[in-house]
Amino acid sequence: MTQPKERWATRVGLVLAMAGNAVGLGNFLRFPAQAAQNGGGAFIIPYLVSFVLMGLPLLWVEWAIGRHGGQFGYHSAPGLIQSLGKHPIWKYCGVFGIFTNLAIIAYYTYIESWTLGYVFYSLSGVFSNQSAAEVSEIFSRHLDLDAGSFLNVPVLAFVFFLVTLAVNLWILSRGLSKGIERASRIGMPILLLFAVFLVIRALTLNAGEFGANHDATLGLNFLWQPRLDALGDPRVWLAAAGQIFFTLSVGMGPILVYASYVRKNDDIALNATSAGWLNEFVEVILGGSLVIPIAVAYLGLDWVQSNVGFEMGFRTMPTLFQNWGPVFSVLAGVAWFGLLFFAGITSSLAMGQPVVTFFQDSFGISRGRAVMLLGVVAVMMALPCIFLYGQGAFGEFDYWAGTFSLVVFALIEIIAFAWVFGIDRGWKEITRGADIRLPGFFKAVIKYVTPLFLIAVFIGAVFKPVDSDWVAAASHLFGGNGWPFAPDSIIGTVFNIGVTDRRWFIDGHPTSVFVVDATRIFLLMIFLAIGFVIHVSWRNKAKQRGGTVR
Ligand code: PHE
Repeated sequence: MTQPKERWATRVGLVLAMAGNAVGLGNFLRFPAQAAQNGGGAFIIPYLVSFVLMGLPLLWVEWAIGRHGGQFGYHSAPGLIQSLGKHPIWKYCGVFGIFTNLAIIAYYTYIESWTLGYVFYSLSGVFSNQSAAEVSEIFSRHLDLDAGSFLNVPVLAFVFFLVTLAVNLWILSRGLSKGIERASRIGMPILLLFAVFLVIRALTLNAGEFGANHDATLGLNFLWQPRLDALGDPRVWLAAAGQIFFTLSVGMGPILVYASYVRKNDDIALNATSAGWLNEFVEVILGGSLVIPIAVAYLGLDWVQSNVGFEMGFRTMPTLFQNWGPVFSVLAGVAWFGLLFFAGITSSLAMGQPVVTFFQDSFGISRGRAVMLLGVVAVMMALPCIFLYGQGAFGEFDYWAGTFSLVVFALIEIIAFAWVFGIDRGWKEITRGADIRLPGFFKAVIKYVTPLFLIAVFIGAVFKPVDSDWVAAASHLFGGNGWPFAPDSIIGTVFNIGVTDRRWFIDGHPTSVFVVDATRIFLLMIFLAIGFVIHVSWRNKAKQRGGTVR
């Protein structure tokens, strides 16, 4: 490798960067929404089981793959995966590790830019004395979601997006320790401070005070009262496993890349475990004590369960803050959207870095140029998410990159690591230089339990039946009526099941079906293009070495 060797400056910096990668919008917006939609206490147990049997093992595996491949000079997913096995196919599996980041960064940075916009809105008192409907309307205006028009042209949101992206690119251009590590050392403590401030406010809400209708305990009980009856519901398991993936950023690639800058004998077992638990603390304890208890205290449990979603953080929270008085509501708004911004940026940096190292590696260009190239590609990929937000482009990005690819890539990683590289070598790799003793039974978990868990999740997603009712679906099948795929199962999604009118154009105007199909074709082309770049760059490198192509 021609680039100068980059390293993490300090261990604390490394752990904060890894935690910053994991702690993101998912912790504060996605987690509460998933938990509320899946029955609160019914969700928490499958969630924690998924963390221990799938999340933690995948963290260790990804850290180990990264540190191992880093010793051979690889800092990008294709090389890192290739260093586990001999067959040339492995490097192509690395496409997922680039594709996911590129696609997620496009819509994730957009959401991140809303949080920046909302910090300014809060500061300038835009929300004061506005009704709930008016506050919600501010969101629609920010994104230009006026019903009727095909294209959204959100000028202000687009400017905020460009600014947010520019800040990300600037930090990335400063390199690992001066850029990402420093940003995490600043951003993470501020985020924690803001979150603790809001959590104290949330937990001390009593019915009757500050306009609250219920105590904060109503929401907390909903989340924390275990409901064992739901353990048999595959839908809840699928949602819980999906959230673990998203929140830990496993199956995506950034962890591999960050870990590839760790020295050969430096600890990874304790670092990975700490970063993982820190993420869980921020998600379950802090993230779980904000949206749900506050919204439930004001709006009641039924309202929250039927209206929760990640837009609620923008549409509803500012109204609720208004109850806390003029000064406090501004502070709360800045703290809430500020913490979301810092949570978001440390994650989007983590998505950017794998792409930057990939460009550097493949094209032999400097970091600065690679960052610029990332900027160009990110803007290009964000355009459909921004201008066709209301038409479903955004959702397609989230589905294929933010959900589907993660499971596939995680499955590839664990098979490559535990079965091809071999679990004995793998376990040694994980525990070399370890500052804690990992329980030995995790060796078996990594080899058998995690892969089976992943396969179950994957099959569940592919064949998910209507209403997630597997029993009814089975009798449907055995009654000779075929398998009733749910519209949001993978098969259902690919074949647009449930969409009756599949026309691309009506009266010469493009339809949402067209946008969805076009987005898929676009994403597929990006995927293939990454594969092609890998192909060419490996061939060129082999030629330079005068050896054979591997
Ligand atoms: N883990 C981040 C979150 O919880 C999301 C993320 C996705 C981060 C992909 C890095 C890469 O929001």
